[in-house]
Amino acid sequence: MLRGGPGSTAGVKKGPFLPDVAVVGAGPVGLAIAWRCAQRGLRVVVHDAAPGSGASHVAAGMLAPVAEAYFGEHELTGLLVESAARWPGFAAELAAAAGTGIGHRTDGTLVVGLTADDLAEARRLWTYQQGLGLPITPLRPSALRDREPALAPRVRGGAVAPGDHQVDPRRLVTALRAAAERAGVGWRPDAVGDLSEVDARVTVVAAGCGAAALTGLPVRPVKGQLLRLRAPGRGTPGFRHVIRGYADGEPVYLVPRDSGEVVVGATVEERADTEVTAGAMLRLLRAAVDLVPELAEYDLVEASAGLRPGTPDNAPIIGALPGRPGVLAATGHHRHGIVLTPVTADLVAELIVTGEPDPLLAPFTPDRFTGAVRTALASEEETCD
Ligand code: GLY
Repeated sequence: MLRGGPGSTAGVKKGPFLPDVAVVGAGPVGLAIAWRCAQRGLRVVVHDAAPGSGASHVAAGMLAPVAEAYFGEHELTGLLVESAARWPGFAAELAAAAGTGIGHRTDGTLVVGLTADDLAEARRLWTYQQGLGLPITPLRPSALRDREPALAPRVRGGAVAPGDHQVDPRRLVTALRAAAERAGVGWRPDAVGDLSEVDARVTVVAAGCGAAALTGLPVRPVKGQLLRLRAPGRGTPGFRHVIRGYADGEPVYLVPRDSGEVVVGATVEERADTEVTAGAMLRLLRAAVDLVPELAEYDLVEASAGLRPGTPDNAPIIGALPGRPGVLAATGHHRHGIVLTPVTADLVAELIVTGEPDPLLAPFTPDRFTGAVRTALASEEETCD
């Protein structure tokens, strides 16, 4: 796009002092794009009044291409798998560039069911995932408990997805800011209300569900409430795997960190507020303690809610905006913003430098929501601001 890719430079702003790239939004996706672009020798600025305060501040940080492979989402699953494969290299490179760790852990994920019905539900999904050739293996109840003795004796069974890992999103943002800064990225602490306020040859809108107001794309807020517990006495949690499952029909995940924290999440609500409700906390805590009883003794340290940027097909929107020369979108990552950060950043930086979209992006371009589809969707969507 900056170096004369096919048909891509018409209308792109020019000028000796313009930044090459302005990124609107300093969540993990925006920061990683900025970092990757600066590594490619581009002059980059990031606009955000409150970096890292969006969905990533609440996110659990599961890197779960297998456990989050859902029926009918083949193309999204392919992108999740691709990005998860990039995570080990990305994590190591980032930690070295930033001089700080990001809590990347590779203990794997257990998928469990508390009751026979819960187990049937979990099995229905993992059978589908196995059918796609993804690495998830059913375990006998005894093998499950050998792996995680902290699981309740009532847990009926489960499976292990050894390649589903985790990272700490708050540490990720801190590291990305440091790495981007060291690579020469500049900061503009402003809230962008309109893209005409942004001066750069290429603008990347990575503003989560705020992208709807800036671009007209059908990105809607999907509320998620979760809470953070802490193991007593500054200890570490009594389990090491991420545990996901169903407890009496309630879906829940438990993400243990070296710091002693356990993230318990999350609701999925078609709402645009960030209130924390007693009912949601009750359901999450009950499900968490049903699966891992020792959690009842942990300290409750935080209850919070965030807004995932959802799209009509649950897949991200990445690529050039039709009819808006020099404007790219990298948004709509919904439940997958953290796992999709490396691949999004790599592919957007490549697109900006070469003007050539990687074939991996083909199912995720903004033009799938154009014309009548976009108008109809836009009239229905709630926005997050
Ligand atoms: N990826 C987990 C969530 O959105 O809750």
